[in-house]
Amino acid sequence: MYLENLRLINFRNYEKFETGFSDKINIITGNNGIGKSSVLEAVHYLSLTKSFRANRDAEAIRFNSDHFVSIGTFVSNDGIRENISISFSKDTGKAVKSHGKILANSRDLIGKHPVVLLSPEDIITTLGSPSGHRKFMNMTMSQVNKSHLSRLLSYRGVLRQRNSAINLAASGGKAYENTLDALEEQMGELCNSIWEDRTKFINDILPEFQKIFSDLNEGKKEGTIEYRPSVSGTKNEIMEELKQRRASDFNMGFTTRGLHRDRLVFKINGRTLKKYGSKGENKTFLIALKLTQGKFIEKRTGIKPIYLLDDVFMELDRTRAIETIKYINGIGQVIITTTDYEEWSGMIDFEVNRIGLS
Ligand SMILES: Nc1ncnc2c1ncn2[C@@H]1O[C@H](COP(=O)(O)OP(=O)(O)O)[C@@H](O)[C@H]1O
Ligand SMILES: [Mg+2]
Repeated sequence: MYLENLRLINFRNYEKFETGFSDKINIITGNNGIGKSSVLEAVHYLSLTKSFRANRDAEAIRFNSDHFVSIGTFVSNDGIRENISISFSKDTGKAVKSHGKILANSRDLIGKHPVVLLSPEDIITTLGSPSGHRKFMNMTMSQVNKSHLSRLLSYRGVLRQRNSAINLAASGGKAYENTLDALEEQMGELCNSIWEDRTKFINDILPEFQKIFSDLNEGKKEGTIEYRPSVSGTKNEIMEELKQRRASDFNMGFTTRGLHRDRLVFKINGRTLKKYGSKGENKTFLIALKLTQGKFIEKRTGIKPIYLLDDVFMELDRTRAIETIKYINGIGQVIITTTDYEEWSGMIDFEVNRIGLS
């Protein structure tokens, strides 16, 4: 699967923009602030119906406009073209269209044209914070499994209800116990199944991750990922645990256990990356993690995801950059941004599609 072309209207700094892509390696070049990341952001919209850097869709609307449109044509493995458009208007909100027809549920699009994103912010968000760890698992697993996404969304709703019940119960006494019982039953079920999914997911990706990480480091370093669930066990065991935590949750004012508190621990040669990793090690770890994510999606869905690599080679030493380039040559469609094309072209011995912005 690949993206054949992209057209933007009032998106970020673009009033109008149009480009084609090759199904292999595309390099977007241009100075800082020219709009390279914005192109990747627009592609991300077409795949996942949202941005990777804006909290609100309105942020991506060009200043002094009232709506944006991102339109692209995806070509499937069988050569079938699908025209997707995402628009967001200040008045009417978001509309997701396939061949010009509005999709009633934009979630239907997720997983159809998967992407793997690697951006400079990922060092902090994906590697550095438990919420980033969960987002990584959620994004990957949701792109290969629709029911996973809907269970995550159900959990979000139940969690919100339990948090408000806790605050009401803390002031209102016993009247909320039945409500909490019912909510914890639902949470027990969802936490159990997502704990199982996440355990399986990490076990599944670990060998591939270890191989890629080792390759990027010429076999000199070993990376691992450990899953640290907040709750685990059967539905009933988890329900019981949530019930026992009520008193302390009343004090804290929120639900302190559950799949929304799961995290990952990343290690290099047995030491935690967060405490001991250098900048370069973090970057290499992240690259290996994202390449693994892509391979996982490909194995599960039979679709090669589009790799969006934003400024990836900044701060990477030459050896690791060359190892990474070797790896990405042939993995599918890749869209890379860089300010320094000269450095790039010195490291590659294959053809790329250069998209120069000025
Ligand atoms: N909503 C917006 N409307 C107009 N311009 C914007 C908007 N948001 C960001 N910009 C500008 O768009 C430009 C391109 O940003 P970006 O794509 O991040 O550039 P690059 O990745 O090439 O460094 C920046 O100058 C930024 O200030
Ligand atoms: Mg950028």
